[in-house]
This record gives sequence, structure tokens and C-alpha cells, in this order.
Amino acid sequence: MIKELAAVDFLKSQIKRFPETAIILGSGLGGLVDEIEIQKRIPYTKIPHFPVATVEGHGGDLIFGKLEGVAVLAMNGRFHYYEGYDMADVVFPLRAMKLIGVKRLIVTNAAGGLNEDFEVGDLMLIEDIISLLPENPLRGKNNEEFGQRFPDMSEPFDLDWIEKTKSEADRLGIKLKTGTYLGMQGPKLETKAEIRYCRIIGGDAVGMSTVPEVIAANHMGMKVLGISVITNESIPKVAKEFTHADVVAAANRAGQKLVELVKAVL
Ligand code: HPA
Repeated sequence: MIKELAAVDFLKSQIKRFPETAIILGSGLGGLVDEIEIQKRIPYTKIPHFPVATVEGHGGDLIFGKLEGVAVLAMNGRFHYYEGYDMADVVFPLRAMKLIGVKRLIVTNAAGGLNEDFEVGDLMLIEDIISLLPENPLRGKNNEEFGQRFPDMSEPFDLDWIEKTKSEADRLGIKLKTGTYLGMQGPKLETKAEIRYCRIIGGDAVGMSTVPEVIAANHMGMKVLGISVITNESIPKVAKEFTHADVVAAANRAGQKLVELVKAVL
């Protein structure tokens, strides 16, 4: 908590009024930044104790501004467990955001489609998560100021927000898939046998992010919305070799749909 407070003190010296809505931008989805009327951009390297992003396709700054007239804070570049951070570091920015008054979180990511009905470029509204990560950000002594020891996770995503997103997607003519996001540690991609396993246990999309943030946000009582961009098909029959560059390129292509949808939802 002390580290988070130092980051918060610094942010308070930079920004007068804090947004209540935060958006985490996934791999290749930084295009949303172009739509933000930017008031302040703060590189992570300037913020005390903030981890520094290492993955290609991720920037590394906090962006304060307005999107569709709504004050937002965008995290351009996120922290993944596979990069070697502790879980506390992975969710550090989110906890700092809570302390500056963020109440709502929109989390986005690039993911592999496990569901046979999904195609590359689809958007999937995340209705639930499965964690196959080896750790949990809430492990250790509970900080009661953030939330309770055993937070309820029966509805990790806000139902009203889900309904609103579905109706806005309809209105915009955006085909929106829904499903369960399965979080893996990575950084390796899944074997065919793992893909079969992920499908059997109920995953519709697989990725290496989002789950820690959704857990920490629920712990802190934030309202959460999650959207995946399907960047490759992780289906045994069709699964073919792909690279991180393919993921980023597919996310960039589908990014505009995501931007339209997020703007409409705001
Ligand atoms: N697996 C894990 N993470 C991913 C994938 C995938 O197929 N695609 C994008 N991120």
C-alpha cells in the first residue's frame, strides 16, 4: 500500500481531477488512444514504483483525457505475469487507480479463439473467466482497505454494462460474440492438447492477461467490462503457427470496431 500511495501522491501532483473510468488497452489495441482528447500523458517510467512494460506492441504510459466527452484514464501498455512481475506488480496500476477514485474498468485484450464459432477479428464480450495462472493477486495478507478476504466472483463482469454493450453492438451492426476468457501464464502458446483441454473445461478464448486485473478489480468493488479481440484461431483442426506480430496485426485490424464499441458504451 505504501508504494501505491507514493504513486498516487505523484499522480495527484500532475492531475487535478481524476476520471472514474479506466481502460486497459491490450496488445495492438493502442489505436483507442488516437480517439482520446488527451489532457496529460504520463510515461510509466516517471511514476514512482510503477512497473515498466516490456512487450512489443505495448506502449507504456497513463493517458488522461476525454473519450466521447467522458473523462477516462487509459493504461497504454499493461503488465503480464509472464514478464516476470509479481502479481502485486501486475495489479499495482489498478490499485493506484482505485486510490485516485477509479470506479469502473474496461479491460481489453488480444486472445486466441477456442470456440469454433469465432473468427479472427471477432470481438468477444467476456462474460466469465477461468484462471489457470499459477498465482492470484490476492494471495497473502489481505488489505481490508481494498476489499474483503474472500471476494465473491460469481458475477465478475457488470451485468448492466454487459447488456448495454450488447445493445450498442447491435445498434452499430457489430457482430459481438460472448464467452469465457481463460487466462494462462504464458509466454508460450498452447499445444494442441492444451487447446483441447481449454475447450473441454469451458474456455471460449485464451490469453495471458486480464485475469489478475479482473480479480483485483472485483476485490476492490469496481464495475468491470471485458472485451477480447480474437487474433488467431486456437482450434485443433485449424490451429496453425502464428507469431506475436500476427496477433498485434490482427488486433490492429479489429481495433476500430473495438474503439467504436467502447465509445458507444461510454
Ligand atoms: N494464446 C494465448 N495468448 C494469446 C493467444 C493465444 O492463442 N492469442 C493472443 N494472445
